[in-house]
Amino acid sequence: MIIIFLGAPGAGKGTQAEVLQERLSMLHISSGNMLRDHTRRGTELGKIASGYMSRNELVPDDLIIEMIIDRLAAPDAERGVLLDGFPRTLPQAEALEAALNLRGKMVNAALYINVDDGVLIDRLSGRLTCRNCGHVYHQIFAPPKVEGICDFCGSELYQREDDTRESAIKRLSVYFNQTLPMIEYYRERSMLCEVNGDQPIDKVTEDLMVCLR
Ligand code: AP5
Repeated sequence: MIIIFLGAPGAGKGTQAEVLQERLSMLHISSGNMLRDHTRRGTELGKIASGYMSRNELVPDDLIIEMIIDRLAAPDAERGVLLDGFPRTLPQAEALEAALNLRGKMVNAALYINVDDGVLIDRLSGRLTCRNCGHVYHQIFAPPKVEGICDFCGSELYQREDDTRESAIKRLSVYFNQTLPMIEYYRERSMLCEVNGDQPIDKVTEDLMVCLR
């Protein structure tokens, strides 16, 4: 089963994918986390991607498509995948469909978490991420039990470099120009299930589970 998460930066794709990976015993693949990992390790891809990411632009399609298609071919992806952050452009959606078709597979559902723009900036600028396990918190909406410390692994929480207000505004404009039109691709194929992401995290999860029934 291949499930993709669609929605603006800060809509809650990563938050919900983390919950659903436990519930559905599926693999969570986040394109943003993979790119940040490449950057930390100083790989060739990481060196190229970091320039685009620091300017809040999308990484070129050919690089990101190769990275994700390779990851989907790994044995642990056989148990089913929750794709978060990919596809983000029409060429990415088409490349995903072609690669899955070659293996007799397809996208089973496209879950679109829709949130008003005004809410997104506050979500991104208040986001905290665990340096070790990557769990995501929010200073106000989803705080850790102890300030600055991850509830799950006890490691330090940090603010992503691209989670300033200025960066968030730029990423949202990229989203509206380059990603939002792609949502129609899945709507036209009757694969899209839209949920209201401006609700408590548990309620959004319930609505997503209804989409998957
Ligand atoms: P990426 O890492 O994907 O960042 P993003 O676009 O900013 O969006 P996120 O995925 O971080 O947001 P999210 O929806 O997961 O929100 P979250 O759950 O964390 O991409 C970073 C960069 O990598 C891009 O700019 C680009 O350069 C590159 N890139 C990545 N993929 C690419 C691709 N396919 N093609 C080209 N380039 C690519 O939640 C946000 C906050 O809100 C958290 O604090 C959370 O606690 C809180 N929250 C979540 N849900 C709720 C709720 N219901 N109520 C209240 N608070 C909530």
